[in-house]
Amino acid sequence: MKKRNILVTSALPYANGEIHIGHLVEYLQTDVWVRFQKLRGNNCRYFCADDTHGTAITISARKKGITEEEFIAGVSRSHQADFAAFGIEFDNYGSTNSPETRAFCVEIWDAIRKAGLVEEREIKQLYDPVAQTFLADRFVKGTCPKCGRADQYGDSCDCGAVYSPTDLIDPVSTLSNTTPELRTAKHLFVEIERVHEFLDDWVSNSGALQPEIVNYLKGQFLSDALWPWDVSRPAPYFGFEIPDSPGNYWYVWFDAPIGYMGSSMQWCKKHGEDSDFWWKNPETEIHHFIGKDICYFHTLFWPAMLKSAGYSLPTKVHIHGFLTVNGEKMSKSRGTFILARTYLNHLNPSYLRYFFATKTSPRVDDLDLNFEEMEARINADLVGNVVNLASRSAKFAAVTGLGDAYPEDGGLFRQAADLSEEIAAAYEERDYGKALRHILECGYRANKFFEDAAPWTIRKELAALEADPAADPAARDAAFKRLQDVATISVNLFRQIVVYLTPILPDLTKQTEELLGCKIESWSDAGRPLLGKTIGTYKHMMTRVPKEGIEAMIEETKNLNKPADTPAEPETDAATAAEAAVSDDQWKDSGQPLLDEPMSDTITIDDFLKVDLRVGRIVEAEQVAEARKLLKLKISLGGAETRQVFAGIKAAYPEPEKLVGRLVVFVANLQPRKMKFGMSEGMVVASGPGGPDVFLTFPDEGAKPGMRLH
Ligand code: 2FM
Ligand code: ZN
Repeated sequence: MKKRNILVTSALPYANGEIHIGHLVEYLQTDVWVRFQKLRGNNCRYFCADDTHGTAITISARKKGITEEEFIAGVSRSHQADFAAFGIEFDNYGSTNSPETRAFCVEIWDAIRKAGLVEEREIKQLYDPVAQTFLADRFVKGTCPKCGRADQYGDSCDCGAVYSPTDLIDPVSTLSNTTPELRTAKHLFVEIERVHEFLDDWVSNSGALQPEIVNYLKGQFLSDALWPWDVSRPAPYFGFEIPDSPGNYWYVWFDAPIGYMGSSMQWCKKHGEDSDFWWKNPETEIHHFIGKDICYFHTLFWPAMLKSAGYSLPTKVHIHGFLTVNGEKMSKSRGTFILARTYLNHLNPSYLRYFFATKTSPRVDDLDLNFEEMEARINADLVGNVVNLASRSAKFAAVTGLGDAYPEDGGLFRQAADLSEEIAAAYEERDYGKALRHILECGYRANKFFEDAAPWTIRKELAALEADPAADPAARDAAFKRLQDVATISVNLFRQIVVYLTPILPDLTKQTEELLGCKIESWSDAGRPLLGKTIGTYKHMMTRVPKEGIEAMIEETKNLNKPADTPAEPETDAATAAEAAVSDDQWKDSGQPLLDEPMSDTITIDDFLKVDLRVGRIVEAEQVAEARKLLKLKISLGGAETRQVFAGIKAAYPEPEKLVGRLVVFVANLQPRKMKFGMSEGMVVASGPGGPDVFLTFPDEGAKPGMRLH
């Protein structure tokens, strides 16, 4: 089979926080995929780096009284140590703050300038003259311009109002506790709308994206004009200064994906290879592994940049969901926001490698780490099935060695060898759960063979014959041969399973290689039995999951959460943790909606309370055949109270049945209105300009129909 050239990346972890188990969902599945490709003999390289730029880094470095460079160097060491401990093996681990990344930034920037995609605009932003920095929203506090509450953040108030920090009354910089100034600064924008047609085509036809992602991009972004992308930040900013715009720096998200190239270039320099072989070669595949929160950057901006600069487009963007722990968001107070380091202090990394693999599928669904389930799966699948086979059969193989010819085994070895391509296809598709189901089947069959063959009785028989000087030597040889056959078969069936598990459990492979005195180097080793060998003494390969380890890990996480030790991220789920780990100003949303619809005059709280907003539940939702825009909804307000409404949301929610059961915000005291199709007795709250861009407002979990919003 032809060797494929495959370049693989995982999202670059932000250098402002430690690696936690939410991150590991991605790095582990990528590492498994890369190990699989290498085992198949493909020319595969895995590149990653720390994502190091942005204001958040400057602030963290200042807090520690060190330079940004010193700060990111420390974080890089800690990230790399964590990855290594989990067996995540990069071909190169770099930093976006590298000359290689800068050189690619300059090249790509020139190309997008030449392609006419860059425009300049003036932006008004708060500036802290004491801290000498422009202030992203979360570094400003003040009085809410809507309700008058004090001590509210720069982007939103507890009252629900959302605004720009420049609207805050009496704004204060949280960095210096002083009043910021309003300054105007030039920003550079990439007019991504100018490559809309290309993106439309690439998203729909390249085959690089999962079907649910294609739908999401088409529905949420490509159905409308794409917003210009603000890619510059004025000084001071920790990053690369834009050569043709002195005093302005590339925004962290501009150079982050270019860091993939920078990292690969470092590897190419070390190995005397040409980076164009990886990035400009139609014979090379490019695979990015990312979480769904950063899909937008990798499926719209990134292909636009690559295309404009004449680079290959991604062959595939493998997008995964978020991690929940015991069915809930990761939480520091519950002790489930677990750092990689904390996990390693208590549990074997192979457990997590295996358990995450059982949950990995090609879909974008979230994935749950339930500790009881993890314990049960490891104990049953690995300890009870796979390792059990090794520990039992190795004992006999140590006595007999492996025979010179592979014995008749009722087709077991063949059967497992025949699964090779099916298992490989499941790995290729990132359906590790499916691959494991096949592999475990092999294990069950092998264990059954072992049980049925009952080698311990043969061993007894052999011992008796050996102890008896009058015994017939032919009978003794026959007993030895029978025992050796069982051992040869069982050990080989075990080794075959280990070959298939190698991408997921490299440590088990190492232990097996040591036991059998023979390396596992290729996927095809699963098709060739190992023969004519003496084997070493069996050493313990894996223990059952220690319950107390799980408890201690959770306890340690809770303790880490005590104020003095609190790590950088706030109480949050994996998704928002990833967000929080990125410079805050990546969420600098466009000002367009406010321009489209300027803010209304101030009202009093009493004015607001005249609107009786309630939580409602959609209990029926159907199309109104004759109406172009309307859905007919039945809203329950709890008990027997229901209302019928006609809502203009048909284009945005073409499958109304999916809305049934969802909570909505409902204007309950709106005067009923007679419409062509019946009475409309209220209104569901939604935002957006209309058409497919209407977004219902959904109350958070726990709200009950009938509750008032205030
Ligand atoms: O979401 C994040 O944590 C970013 N640091 C990922 C960057 S991925 C790539 F673009 F570099
Ligand atoms: Zn407010």
